[in-house]
Amino acid sequence: MKATMENTYLEPSYRVDKRSFTKREHNRFVKLKGVRDWSGVSWDQVGRPFEVTRVSKEKKEWELREGKALPVHASWEMFNRSFHEWFVKDVPDSLSHNRKKIVGEALKLHLTSSVEAMNDHLRLHLWNYVHRIQDGIWDPRGKRELFKGLDVKKPRILFLGAAEGYEAMQLAAMYPGSSIVMVDYDPFCKDTRYEDFPGSYPFLGENPDTGGMKVYHKRDFPTDYVISDIRELSYAKEFDIVLSVGLLEHFPDEHKPEVVDWHRKFLKPGGYMILTTPRAQWKSKVYYNLMADVMNHTYRELMTVEQMGLYLYENGADILQHGYIKVHNGIIAKTR
Ligand SMILES: C[S@@+](CC[C@H](N)C(=O)[O-])C[C@H]1O[C@@H](n2cnc3c(N)ncnc32)[C@H](O)[C@@H]1O
Repeated sequence: MKATMENTYLEPSYRVDKRSFTKREHNRFVKLKGVRDWSGVSWDQVGRPFEVTRVSKEKKEWELREGKALPVHASWEMFNRSFHEWFVKDVPDSLSHNRKKIVGEALKLHLTSSVEAMNDHLRLHLWNYVHRIQDGIWDPRGKRELFKGLDVKKPRILFLGAAEGYEAMQLAAMYPGSSIVMVDYDPFCKDTRYEDFPGSYPFLGENPDTGGMKVYHKRDFPTDYVISDIRELSYAKEFDIVLSVGLLEHFPDEHKPEVVDWHRKFLKPGGYMILTTPRAQWKSKVYYNLMADVMNHTYRELMTVEQMGLYLYENGADILQHGYIKVHNGIIAKTR
């Protein structure tokens, strides 16, 4: 029987990690604060984001068949179904199944299928390493570092493009008494990605009774999941925190001001905008290249935290905290 009191262990599809960083790990995986004065930063200095141009087979085939560009909403529907499949994979089981397939097809001299199975195998190993071993995607320790220290009590949290909702739940664990509104215009995100998110996954947060740590689960967070285009929301300025994870980099520059504005529109005065985007590092370029069929259905950029900060700063945000964790940049800002 698994010792669930352990602080970190591997489940078939993901890692559980209730540890805090040691000082050494912190120095390796979390870098916060670099720019002191954003008014002195220019696009000439920081350059432009890197556009990921390798797209999925599914998108290419759709466009060839239909003779037009894949509409953005449909591209998100493809992405969410494709990405979700990987989150629910039993990785050790899939690896062993694939090994048998590679050998079996090669013995039958079905070389094309054997090579396809090898490619799947490579992707599975990469996924196992990035998501399950390194925990780079959910990165609970990094997210907790990024989200700590906000001056909020029982906050109302709005999560834009919420997908499975992970980061809002991590925030809610850290700030007891939170209530969450998740918004995504793909119903699959509510009905499957959020619904299938493991109820046993432990989110480490604060115990309001003792001030110590406490483990929370999905069912502990009062959550309203709204299926809507963000552009059609009509809330008042009623949220303490507006959050997005992997949203800004999917919009070309002409739309960036509007996306920044989405984060400001429903914030209470003094509320926090929290955004993260994937980092422009060589490892991420390799990842999005090898995982193109799984991940690349929509427009996508990789950016540095300086580029991300400049998009926010020049669109009226005051940056309180910026930096990066394993695979994402993170910024906490207020309206200027
Ligand atoms: C890249 S995902 C966020 C990354 C997420 N952490 C994940 O694991 O997939 C962005 C999400 O935003 C949603 N989205 C994009 N544009 C939207 C819009 N205008 N209104 C509502 N949801 C939107 C997509 O459906 C998608 O689920």
